[in-house]
Amino acid sequence: MTELSSDNVKAVVAEFCDVSAAYFGDIHVLRNLSLVFRSGTVTGIIGPNGAGKSTVLKTFMGALKPRSGDIRLYGKSLAGVPNHVLALMGVAYVPQNRSLFLGLSVEDNLLLGCWPIRHDRVRTRRILDRTLTEFPMLGAARRNLAGSLSGGQRRFLEIARALLLDPKIILLDEPTAMIAPKFAADVYEKISALAAEGLAVVLVDQNIKPCIEVSNYIYVLELGQKTTEGTADFLQSDDKMREEIGRWLEVSGG
Ligand SMILES: Nc1ncnc2c1ncn2[C@@H]1O[C@H](COP(=O)(O)OP(=O)(O)OP(=O)(O)O)[C@@H](O)[C@H]1O
Ligand SMILES: [Mg+2]
Repeated sequence: MTELSSDNVKAVVAEFCDVSAAYFGDIHVLRNLSLVFRSGTVTGIIGPNGAGKSTVLKTFMGALKPRSGDIRLYGKSLAGVPNHVLALMGVAYVPQNRSLFLGLSVEDNLLLGCWPIRHDRVRTRRILDRTLTEFPMLGAARRNLAGSLSGGQRRFLEIARALLLDPKIILLDEPTAMIAPKFAADVYEKISALAAEGLAVVLVDQNIKPCIEVSNYIYVLELGQKTTEGTADFLQSDDKMREEIGRWLEVSGG
């Protein structure tokens, strides 16, 4: 993976500026977190269970309101911006808890992803046709129920749905969890391809090795705080970090 150097640093798409967030009371799950997500870059977020990785993405999507600090997209605060507007602003999200309507067809699941532009039927049709061509496995299964797809096919349907409205940034929470290794390899390949097309990809992943391999830049979280950050080479050359990663791999069996 190409490392970021001063002459190929990409534009900032989104930023967490000193964000703290809590689900209830004053128990802060994110603590003074500052993160930068750049175009054409895969940013990996790793850390042990309960570190707050999913909460970062949920807070980005407005499910949690920052108690302090700010989340910005192209320099503008996202405070108070509703979820469906985020999609129109170019933010896409594939959550950790799977989000398909298993009793609906592949095509209807995609149609629901076009909800924010539902009044523009011509654009909706064009986007659907393009997506079903771009993902031939979904094209072949367009009339099948999402519930009849394999785990890997479902994951691709979720990713395809997130890409419908041409996002500028895509947030992926554990996209290779519980799918066959062949599909996992395809997902990582897709992630690299999306970054190569210029997207900012934010990858939360418990599979530390492949995450580090595919990421240009990595944040390590623990107890809602950033403990380390840097390129894959930097993290792997840091003795303390190598030891830490070794411990997580033992625990997770990764
Ligand atoms: N809906 C919720 N209500 C209250 N606390 C929550 C909720 N969701 C998560 N938490 C708590 O917030 C902390 C961070 O959780 P989060 O799900 O962000 O961690 P994570 O790093 O994504 O973990 P994992 O690797 O297990 O997915 C944990 O202590 C968790 O118990
Ligand atoms: Mg999580």
